[in-house]
Amino acid sequence: MKQIQMQDTYINKIKNLDIKKKYSVLTMGCQLNENDSERISGMLEESGYTKTEDLAKANVIVFNTCCVRENAEDRLFGKLGEVKKYKEENGCIIAIGGCMMQEKHMIQKLHESYPFVDIIFGPHTLQKFPEDLYKAIMENKKIEDILDIDGEIVEGIPTVREDKIKASVTIMNGCNNFCSYCIVPYVRGRERSRNPQDIYDEIIDLAKRGYKEITLLGQNVNSYLVSEKSKGENVDFSVKGQDGLVYKVNSFATLLRLINKIDGIERIRFISPHPKDFTDDVIEAIRDSEKVCKLIHLPLQSGSTEVLKAMNRKYTKEQYLNLVEKIKNKISNVQFSTDIIVGFPGETEKDFEDTLDVVSKVKYEQIYMFIYSRRVGTVADKMENQVDEKIKHQRFDKLKKLAENIIEEKNKNYVGKTELVLVEGKSKTNEKVYTGRSETNKVVNFEGNENMIGKILPLKIVSEHMWYLKGKYDNM
Ligand code: 5AD
Ligand code: SF4
Repeated sequence: MKQIQMQDTYINKIKNLDIKKKYSVLTMGCQLNENDSERISGMLEESGYTKTEDLAKANVIVFNTCCVRENAEDRLFGKLGEVKKYKEENGCIIAIGGCMMQEKHMIQKLHESYPFVDIIFGPHTLQKFPEDLYKAIMENKKIEDILDIDGEIVEGIPTVREDKIKASVTIMNGCNNFCSYCIVPYVRGRERSRNPQDIYDEIIDLAKRGYKEITLLGQNVNSYLVSEKSKGENVDFSVKGQDGLVYKVNSFATLLRLINKIDGIERIRFISPHPKDFTDDVIEAIRDSEKVCKLIHLPLQSGSTEVLKAMNRKYTKEQYLNLVEKIKNKISNVQFSTDIIVGFPGETEKDFEDTLDVVSKVKYEQIYMFIYSRRVGTVADKMENQVDEKIKHQRFDKLKKLAENIIEEKNKNYVGKTELVLVEGKSKTNEKVYTGRSETNKVVNFEGNENMIGKILPLKIVSEHMWYLKGKYDNM
């Protein structure tokens, strides 16, 4: 906790500065990245800043970057071109953080082509943002605050949450898997799990503030505490519960069971697990915990055993399908979503057919599809058999079509049934229409009222529209 106390000094120093304090944070990555942005906002608001969506009015503009695929990088460079004029007009501070800043060639590019950037920081130095900002303001010099080694888990960073009903809680950081396409292990470092008491206390606090849904986050959530165990650390944690009892937590499964007991929290989700670590105790914990949504995100990446081997995924097509079967047998009505990459080096038409085959068999509720993107420093980037861009796009389109057909077919099954929907708020386009999510994460729109926000309501599904379902609340 030392780090945060020291940052309190900088937070107070900034608070006392007589300067204009408006800020904007632009988030360019995954939910972990979003969760980090909530902390950046938290530190800024503690320092007296207020948020603005209008970049032209912001005195501090923070980019929280992602490097998982090339298009996230392109977005940053596009936006940087735009904010240069604000810097020239009003001298705002421009800060860039996030995963991309852990890549040396990117920092080089910033120095060469975007010299107006004031602060460069990484995910391991996020908690020092108030200090970096204070120095940039007071000393008017460029700050570069990057740690090459794995950062420690820091507790107690102030957080401003984007949402009032759903919240993300990071349970572990980093990744030990080194899938050959992925840059994350290089930028986020090795796996480190948070202490279960800290996670529990954070969720209790969220529940007290009215949050209903929690998503547990990590690059590999079902490896929670595994890395600590393998290092011989004692992971038999005793967590003091809100009921005064003491609970043992020593794995992802025991953590899920504990969180399931928290009063006020009504839904629990988690992303992302790795199929190779999907042990029976995890399946049983999901089955037994009534608040854990029965929609499991199970990243496939490819349906071809050969490609999976080259990806270093550590499972075959058959093992993946067997796991799906096992989960289906243990948990009634379970559904799946997934991540798939098309056009990995060496992927043949036959390999791609295997991916389509798994998709047809599992019939996912939702598929996050990606075209393989070369990442400097990864094993796959050095492979010589890169797939032609045109073929990658053709395969992507074919997969998209299949996925949409399945979604349409599955959507039809919802019509006439009653779904429990967590109401999130008003629709952006129609005053009378409210919107929420089913347990399977489907968007459900319906005519409702203000009092329904934050409640889980039974809605009868009356029609399906590809990306949303229309529901009706009968007791109105
Ligand atoms: N190219 C394309 N997609 C990627 N992903 C990770 N690395 C790459 C890459 N180099 C996808 C994976 C992962 C998701 C978060 O992003 O499908 O599960
Ligand atoms: Fe992007 Fe991956 Fe970092 Fe998330 S963890 S911000 S997806 S690089």
